[in-house]
Amino acid sequence: MIIFKRIDEVRQFIENKKAEGKKIGFVPTMGALHSGHISLVKNSIANTHITIVSIFVNPTQFNDTSDLKNYPREFEKDRNLLEDVGCHAIFYPDVDEMYPEKDNRVFDFKGLDEVMEGEHRPGHFNGVAQIVSKLFYAIPADKAFFGLKDFQQLAIIKKLVSILKLNIEIVPCDIVREPNGLAMSSRNERLTKEQRESAKIIYTNLLEVNKQINKLSIAEIKSLVRSAINKSPLFEVEYFDIVNSETLLPVTRKEDCDEAIACIAVWADKIRLIDNIILNF
Ligand code: PAJ
Repeated sequence: MIIFKRIDEVRQFIENKKAEGKKIGFVPTMGALHSGHISLVKNSIANTHITIVSIFVNPTQFNDTSDLKNYPREFEKDRNLLEDVGCHAIFYPDVDEMYPEKDNRVFDFKGLDEVMEGEHRPGHFNGVAQIVSKLFYAIPADKAFFGLKDFQQLAIIKKLVSILKLNIEIVPCDIVREPNGLAMSSRNERLTKEQRESAKIIYTNLLEVNKQINKLSIAEIKSLVRSAINKSPLFEVEYFDIVNSETLLPVTRKEDCDEAIACIAVWADKIRLIDNIILNF
C-alpha cells in the first residue's frame, strides 16, 4: 500500500493507473476508521481495480474549534486497517498541502445546505465542498463512495459534481450499525458506556417511524419521536425532520413526495450523533 502526502504525486499515480486502463475507486474520510468506513472501502475494492482512501481532518468544515481539536487522529491504526482489507493507496496530506492559501470559494447549493445539518452547523457544507472539490482534483477517480449515514452530505456532493461538471460517479453506501443499532461514527468512541448502550434509542425510534408512517400524521410522528428521546436524561434532540429525499425540504403530507427520509441529530452531553432512515410509504 502506497502512502502519498502530495497532490502532484497522487494525481500522477492515478493518471498512470488510468492510462493502464484501470478503474479507480476513491473513499474520502477524516480517519479514525471504523467498520462503516471499511464497508465503503470494500465496496470500492469490489467494484474498481484500484482503491484509494484519503485521510484528512478538514478544518474548514468544523464550526466548533473544540470539536476540531478533539477529533480522533489515529493514522497508524487506520493504516493497518486499510492494509488488512486490501486498500491500494492512502492520500494523507498536511493542512498546508490542501490549503496553501485561505479558500474563499462559496458554493450555491440552492438551499440543500440550509436545512437540518446546514441550519445547525453554519458553513459546514461549504467547507465539505471546498475539501471534496480539492480531493476530486487530486484524485480524479471513476467512482467515489459515500455513506448514507451522512445523507445530506451525499446530496450536497451530488450537487457539487453537477455544478463543477465533474466526471465522477457518486456511489451511495448503506449505513453500518453497532450491534445495538447505533449508527457507527468516530464520535461514538467519546460516549460513555451508558450513553453508547442507551443511544440505541435513536435507531429504535427511526424504526418506529417506519411502522407508524402510514398510521399517524407527520406532525404526530415528529412530536412522538422528540418526546420519546428527550424523556431520557442522557439525550436531547437537536432536530428531527421528515424531508423529501431529493429536495431535502420538509414533507408535511405524505402525498407530496415519492420518497421521504427521516433525519435526526441528538446531543449526548457534548457529543452530537446523527442518523436517518428512508421511509416506506
Ligand atoms: P467521515 O466522517 O470520516 O466519513 C467518511 C465517509 O464514511 C462518509 O462518506 C460517511 O458517510 C461514511 N460513514 C461514516 N459512518 C458510516 C456508517 N456508520 N455507515 C456507512 N458509512 C459511514 O464524511 C466525512 O468524513 C467528511 O465530511 C469528508 C467527506 C471526508 C470531507 O472531509
